[in-house]
Amino acid sequence: MTLRSRIIGIGSFLPAHISTNDDMAKIVDTSDEWIVERTGIRVRHFADENMSSSVMAVKAAEQALNSAGLTGDDLDLIVLGTVTPDKTFPATAAYVQAGLGMKHGCAFDVVAACSGFLYALKTADNMLRLGQAKTALVVGVETLSKITDFKDRNTCVLFGDGAGCVILKAEEAAGTSADRGVLDTLIYSDGSYAPELCSTGGPSTNHDVGYITMNGREVFRHAAVNMAEVSAEILQKNGVSLDEVDWLVPHQANIRILEATAKRLGIPMEKVISTVDLHANTSAASIPLALAEGVKNGKIKEGQLLLLPGMGAGFTWGASLIRL
Ligand code: UT7
Repeated sequence: MTLRSRIIGIGSFLPAHISTNDDMAKIVDTSDEWIVERTGIRVRHFADENMSSSVMAVKAAEQALNSAGLTGDDLDLIVLGTVTPDKTFPATAAYVQAGLGMKHGCAFDVVAACSGFLYALKTADNMLRLGQAKTALVVGVETLSKITDFKDRNTCVLFGDGAGCVILKAEEAAGTSADRGVLDTLIYSDGSYAPELCSTGGPSTNHDVGYITMNGREVFRHAAVNMAEVSAEILQKNGVSLDEVDWLVPHQANIRILEATAKRLGIPMEKVISTVDLHANTSAASIPLALAEGVKNGKIKEGQLLLLPGMGAGFTWGASLIRL
């Protein structure tokens, strides 16, 4: 017997304001045709002035807690992935903890950009498996619109805002791949690629929040390779064949990256959850948002095996294998 982190609740939140590709074409020299063809993105959601990351995270968390029949006080751990915190400090997770009325346990952020949810998930899963917490909220949330340079057509059409989360509960299980819960998560990084995708600012460099800057082609080149390789590795490590995977729920940056990852891995697109058309790239929020969407529209069902690969700034990348 072993301890497993089972997903007992899923939540998501998207701000009401939707910006279409035609809206973006009014701001920069671009077109719906270019954005759809090169990225697959059709719309993105933008938070308004008063909506911070913690506000969106609390809304997603309330939905997840509700679906699990719990309140904030039932949680003893919050791990939150974001690169768009409410403030430089304290952690955005602290505001979420307060917003949910949780007075005990601990709450902290992890910074791993588009891999943020996977890093947060691995951290929470490890703590649950070690008996250091019993019920965890794992959140990916971003208000990327607040660090987007709306004069830069190379980046501004690509990103959106949103929050997604899961509630994990530690439960005894047999310790096989038939168990429900997080079966395994692999995470990696290579900091030598940091300049390829980063913010132009930061408190200890120029006292500024900065804007997103990206060498799109270089990121693209690594994304599909890294996501496919780490996916293959986690399957092999856990003695699971590709055929057993019901759904690939990847980080949503570009439909062409999703297609290239699926092709490299050898999984048909019919088994890939894609929300990039509706959400654009929401960094740490994109995997849990895609998971929530897949469950909501009835594709992803209880007991199914899910493979969640991601890749982002750092570079960071990883994959999680989960039986829902
Ligand atoms: O989540 C991890 C982080 N991000 C990603 O994974 C994104 C990874 N990269 C990508 O998705 C793609 O590289 C992009 C979507 C960013 C760019 O697509 P691409 O097919 O690699 O285009 P490109 O960089 O080769 O640029 C082609 C052309 C350029 O014009 P020139 O230099 O060939 O004349 C760009 O200036 O497209 C131009 N361009 C645009 N044109 C219209 C770049 N952005 C736009 C735009 N509208 N919004």
